[in-house]
Amino acid sequence: MSKVLTALQPSGVLHIGNYFGAIEPFVKLQDSGNTNVLFVVDYHAITVPQEPEMLRKNIMFATATYLAAGVDPKKTLLFQQSHVPQHTELAWILNCIAHMGELERMTQYKDKTRGKGEAVTVGLFDYPVLMAADILLYETEIVPVGEDQKQHVELARDLAERFNKRFGETFTIPKPQIRKEGARIMGLDDPEIKMSKSAKSEKNFISLMDDDKTIEKKIKSAVTDSQGTIKYDEKRKGLANLITIYSLVTGQTNNQIEESYKGKGYKEFKEDLAKHLNDFLKPLQNKIKTYLSDETELKNILDQGAKKAQILAEQKMKDVRNKIGVY
Ligand code: TYM
Repeated sequence: MSKVLTALQPSGVLHIGNYFGAIEPFVKLQDSGNTNVLFVVDYHAITVPQEPEMLRKNIMFATATYLAAGVDPKKTLLFQQSHVPQHTELAWILNCIAHMGELERMTQYKDKTRGKGEAVTVGLFDYPVLMAADILLYETEIVPVGEDQKQHVELARDLAERFNKRFGETFTIPKPQIRKEGARIMGLDDPEIKMSKSAKSEKNFISLMDDDKTIEKKIKSAVTDSQGTIKYDEKRKGLANLITIYSLVTGQTNNQIEESYKGKGYKEFKEDLAKHLNDFLKPLQNKIKTYLSDETELKNILDQGAKKAQILAEQKMKDVRNKIGVY
């Protein structure tokens, strides 16, 4: 049995990339009876400006989404990151062994700050260290994430090894788990970049809450190429991405999909894909709405999770404080 942990930011819409990259793989591992931790990383979200009322709503929305996707609070510690202050405490200690150079090399940091000059916050720079603290507090072995978070999990490994070497065996060394298909869903409007909540155009992503008309419109306008045949080819990035999404929502293999669209064109393929996406998302959306209708219960679940998480996190912090000589 492995200890599995992951987390998502409550920064507005969650999209199908988040779902297939992290939520679904987590739920699959949860059901194999492991010790699990999943939380809403509100302190990561504030590394870019957030409107407080919106942030509060988004935390509830993220929680409802996890539950709707099958996260079971009986098997998983489900909580809000800021409610377990040991996360930020450990982040500070890890800050004191992390190197500026290794943080400067983080590709996500480079992407997010390109052209922003001096307005970049210290929080954004330090974000991967808080993520390392998130992971290391709970003796995590497996971190299911999308491809874009691999480098951050590797930093957590490096920091764990560095700390253990300097102060003695303290942290478990975590491993990222990245699925083969769907670990990097690309933008519908630009298949060169990953699907992202912070994309400039809404046409970039399918939100988990998009209705049938919106899905239809977005899929219809998704970028493909002029070849017209339905054949998976990594070089045909737009189509390859759509086939991957098709495969994820229907469970069909790429071969089966190619077979059923022999002699047919993009129009039919896209119409069917929109229908399958809608069929896939509808039940999830209904469950999300049901969970959202009882905010008191959502808060209750988060509070219970935080109480249990605090106990585990405090155990680890006692050891850490002791090792570094402040206890
Ligand atoms: P975040 O909130 O940006 O994304 C949440 C999860 O969704 C995955 N993901 C994708 N997967 C496939 N295709 C995409 N287009 C796509 N876009 C996003 C991400 O890889 C991620 O798994 N720093 C993290 C949150 C975090 C965390 C942690 C994760 C904080 N502490 C500890 C794991 C463990 C983040 O910002 O993810």
